[in-house]
Amino acid sequence: MNTFALNTYRDTLVDFTRDIYFDQDKHSWIVTNNEITKQILKSDRLLANSLPDKLANSGLNGPVRDRVADFYSNWLIYMDGERHQLLRTKVRTYLDGIVRRFSDETIKRMIINEMASGSKEGLVDFVEITQKICRQIMATVFGLKVEEYDYLVKISRPVTELLYGYDLEQIKAQKALDAIGRYHQHLHELTNAHKLNDNGFLSQALSDPEISLSLLINVLVDGEDPLESLEKSVFFLWGQSGLLNLRSDLKTIFSIMAPFTYISRIAAEDTIIDSVTVKRGQKISCIIPEYQNSGSPHHGSMAFGQGVHRCLGEPLAVKVAKNTYEILQAKKKQVKMVKYAVNNDFGYFTFTELLMEVN
Ligand code: HEM
Repeated sequence: MNTFALNTYRDTLVDFTRDIYFDQDKHSWIVTNNEITKQILKSDRLLANSLPDKLANSGLNGPVRDRVADFYSNWLIYMDGERHQLLRTKVRTYLDGIVRRFSDETIKRMIINEMASGSKEGLVDFVEITQKICRQIMATVFGLKVEEYDYLVKISRPVTELLYGYDLEQIKAQKALDAIGRYHQHLHELTNAHKLNDNGFLSQALSDPEISLSLLINVLVDGEDPLESLEKSVFFLWGQSGLLNLRSDLKTIFSIMAPFTYISRIAAEDTIIDSVTVKRGQKISCIIPEYQNSGSPHHGSMAFGQGVHRCLGEPLAVKVAKNTYEILQAKKKQVKMVKYAVNNDFGYFTFTELLMEVN
């Protein structure tokens, strides 16, 4: 990828000359080495579950604390126990079945329709088009109308906002608990009004007594942003340098435009990693490393994580990218990049502007 200069989002923040080092500003160990990252994601001493630490360091107490602890212990990233594997497998099975039944033709039709309705003027904002495509796709997976899907994502925002940052603040916790109540109520209304498609994830998850509301909200909110990010990157490559082939373009995307820039873990006990001692409770941020060439287009990349917490939405994301790719490849000579901008936050990569001229 030598024809464009993407604003750097890693080199300004990460010292790639060192495999592992402590970053005072980020209060975290930073790991840049692929092999070390793999060991970390496999280790049972390095947990994804930062909830106990967050709770211990928070000002939360009484019933609010208990309800927060109870609700979020069913949030997938906080589930490190063996018994949780069963739940993860269940969710994966539901999602994979839905994705398999979601035909390429239907996905392509959604993409083509949105592109057609957004490109009347010649100058097209692909950020907006991508958002519309991804919402339709996610709504279909969950078995909802787009407006209902949007509404559920909107009301569950305080539930995810509580998790950002290190402190669980009382006000945010109360807002999250209120949102959970509203969510519960709204799902009840949707069910009673027969507004859930029987083949969608929500209907299947709601009729499964082992799937908690927490797990369900988690799956519903986790996918839209990274799916959008990937979809925008496909459009970006198309407009910027033209598409080569799916395998190598996905490789480019997952190495320099991976939606998540790092994966974090907490040391459950003092642990030696590559000759440094990571102390109990310290955070480790594994930078999603450069693509390692192996197997299928995306395997070897850390973009979807690895091990127990490997992304459950990967088959959906890859299927949508593949279908978008096939549509765009057929139109490759008809587009010119006009302007783009990216979000350079440490944790998340996405295009915030993608203006292209389409003829
Ligand atoms: C390009 C698109 C996507 C990327 C790059 C991506 C990336 C990731 C990564 C890196 C993780 C692991 C986090 C960790 O180990 O700490 C993850 C987990 C997860 N992803 Fe994705 N994701 C994408 C799309 C989706 C979609 C579309 C869905 C839902 C339909 C989804 C649902 C999840 C869930 C539920 C988890 C938590 C798994 C667990 O903790 O066991 N993701 N994703």
